[in-house]
Amino acid sequence: MKVLTRYEMAKDTLAGFETVKNIFELREAWKKDFWECIRDVATHPVVLRMKLYPHHGNSSCYDHCIHVAYYNYRLCRFLGLDYKSAARGGMLHDLFLYDWHKHTKKTGDHFHGLTHPKKALVNARKIFDLNPTEQDIIYRHMWPVTLFRIPHTWEGFITTLTDKYCGACETSRRKQCKR
Ligand SMILES: [Fe+2]
Ligand SMILES: [Fe+2]
Repeated sequence: MKVLTRYEMAKDTLAGFETVKNIFELREAWKKDFWECIRDVATHPVVLRMKLYPHHGNSSCYDHCIHVAYYNYRLCRFLGLDYKSAARGGMLHDLFLYDWHKHTKKTGDHFHGLTHPKKALVNARKIFDLNPTEQDIIYRHMWPVTLFRIPHTWEGFITTLTDKYCGACETSRRKQCKR
C-alpha cells in the first residue's frame, strides 16, 4: 500500500473541498437556470392565482407546482432529457384554479382526481403555446390513477413520480406542524 506524504494528503483534501465547492456552484447555477426556464409561466397573473387555492397540507397549488417543476428540472437535466419542458409542464400541471377540497360540494363532480388534468390543460393552452411534451406532462400526470392515460414521454413519466413525491412531502409536513 502506498503511503501518502503530507503534501499528497493535503492535496487530496483540497481536491475534496474543490469537488464540494463545484457541486454547490453547479447547484446554484441550475437554480438560476430553472428560474429562467419558468419565469414567464410562474409570474403570469393567471398562474399566480394558484396561490389562492390550498392543495396538499399547508402548501398552495402554486407551491406544489413549483416543487414539481423544480424536481422535474433537476431529474430531467441529470438524465439528459428535455428539462425546460419538464419544468414548464410541471409548473402548469395543476392549473385547474379551484379549491378541490370544496369542489365536490360546489359542483357535484366526484372525480376531481380524474378530471383536473384536462381542465389544467385547457386553462394552460388558453395562455401559453405548449409543446407536445408539456401537454403530455399536464394531461397524463395523474397516471396510474387515470388507468389508460399513460404518459407518452419520459418527462411525462417522471412527472407522475415527482407529483406524488411532492404531494406526500407536503402532506407529511402539515402533520409535523400539527404536532
Ligand atoms: Fe394533479
Ligand atoms: Fe400535482
